Amino acid sequence: MTAVAPVFDDSISKAPERIAGMFDAIAPRYDLLNHLLSGGIDRTWRTRAIRSLALTGRERVLDLCTGTADLAIAASAARPGAARVVGVDFAGAMLRVADEKLRRDRLRDRIALVQGDATRIPMAAASVDAVTIAFGIRNVENVAAACAEIHRVVKPGGRLAILEFAVPTMPGWRSVYGWYLKHILPRIGRAVSRHDGAYAYLPASIDAFATPDELVKILRQSGFVTIAAVPLTLGSVCLYTARRGS
Ligand SMILES: C[S@@+](CC[C@H](N)C(=O)[O-])C[C@H]1O[C@@H](n2cnc3c(N)ncnc32)[C@H](O)[C@@H]1O
Repeated sequence: MTAVAPVFDDSISKAPERIAGMFDAIAPRYDLLNHLLSGGIDRTWRTRAIRSLALTGRERVLDLCTGTADLAIAASAARPGAARVVGVDFAGAMLRVADEKLRRDRLRDRIALVQGDATRIPMAAASVDAVTIAFGIRNVENVAAACAEIHRVVKPGGRLAILEFAVPTMPGWRSVYGWYLKHILPRIGRAVSRHDGAYAYLPASIDAFATPDELVKILRQSGFVTIAAVPLTLGSVCLYTARRGS
């Protein structure tokens, strides 16, 4: 499948070394901030994403941009859940936090962690039944290349579930949420993570990222079918679901 050029404003630098360095720097506080800044609702979003895969207990799932592995763990813990999960991320410090969680929860035999780039997934073609990504695709420099890679590694008929932030369209909520993202979130993020840029990058990258229609178009051009974009929490997050065609 040929990669297609992004159609949205992608002016923020997403050079892999910059993004990996930023996540490495905030890794120790990442989980705490995730739950704090979302008021704990991120767990519900992950549950929705895993449920959309309709797992039977036999699947091999790839969790791309796995970070600290919360979605990989959710896929493994669901009943029925994935038989096996592989979590891929390029930030080593995020994977070290993930690995400590797997050790603590005795999940190392069910979830494997691999350091790698979403645009060059270190896995064989048609080797997984489903792919998940939570809040990772927005950070990838070449979204179309990542979608083409996902298409390569998932089996024909296999499923995809992507969670990503979106800009809400409802006028009142859009203003309130936009104000929170711009003024409150970066302050809390900076105070807790002690990282200057990461939590200012978050709202800026949400603003600059593809709209749901644009991401759906990229998925379609990458060869996915039965694509849906379901708004969650008044459109602050979008759950994209799709299947690989042939
Ligand atoms: C916001 S975190 C999300 C982590 C996790 N999925 C979650 O839901 O909490 C984004 C993650 O994507 C990873 N990432 C971004 N671009 C990537 C790429 N091109 N290849 C691999 N990992 C990438 C980052 O290192 C980071 O761990």
